[in-house]
Amino acid sequence: MSERDQTRERVIATYRGSAARYDLTNRLYYLLGVRQAAFRRRAVAALRLRPGDSVVEIGCGTGLNFPLIEAAVGPAGRITGVDVTDAMLARARCRVRARGWRNVTMIQADAARFRFPAGVNAILSTYALSLVPECAEVVTAGCAALAPGGRWVVLDTMLPAGRPGWLARALVRPFAGTDEWIARRPWEAIHAAMRANLTEVAVTDLYLGCLFLAAGTRPYRPAVSR
Ligand SMILES: C[S@@+](CC[C@H](N)C(=O)[O-])C[C@H]1O[C@@H](n2cnc3c(N)ncnc32)[C@H](O)[C@@H]1O
Repeated sequence: MSERDQTRERVIATYRGSAARYDLTNRLYYLLGVRQAAFRRRAVAALRLRPGDSVVEIGCGTGLNFPLIEAAVGPAGRITGVDVTDAMLARARCRVRARGWRNVTMIQADAARFRFPAGVNAILSTYALSLVPECAEVVTAGCAALAPGGRWVVLDTMLPAGRPGWLARALVRPFAGTDEWIARRPWEAIHAAMRANLTEVAVTDLYLGCLFLAAGTRPYRPAVSR
């Protein structure tokens, strides 16, 4: 099995094990001072959604962002949630059923193999993309599918810069910080892929530099290289 497949298997096993308590754990991050709800609101606001828009969420998990996206796109909009872990998607399905949303499709798929629908208005990933070994390729594939003017937004974890290595690692451990993840430095690949394919790219550090919010726009015309 390749190193990437091993990472994927480990991720699936982790989230199968934590799906039942995921939403509760997410709330407990407040005790560490992580303002999850505010960060999620910022991420969804950065998508600049309008009623009727189509949105793909990569690594949607239990669907914690769906209420915010639903509120922005309304019943005429469409949400496609993609996740590789069956147990997380099962929770998302319960949420969708309970809220009576009819415009949400959930797809169990590896983000690296997912084919984005052409002309999608917005793509979101929160706390998920950095877990995908092929994260840069996923950003690039999403950019190619976005409608002109469409938005790609990533809220995720990174190793805080400008601190001693031991402190940076200790700060990030509660989030995603396995040794494999730290060595891979996926946040750099995500930022680079966004800068290479999008305009108006803005990267904001959050929570002592352990998190980032990155957003960009698919240009109306491809940049002309001279
Ligand atoms: C920390 S949870 C985040 C869930 C949700 N986005 C949120 O903000 O609450 C990470 C999610 O990413 C999913 N994931 C990890 N690797 C993936 C991959 N290669 N393809 C699709 N989903 C993946 C996991 O199954 C898990 O549901």
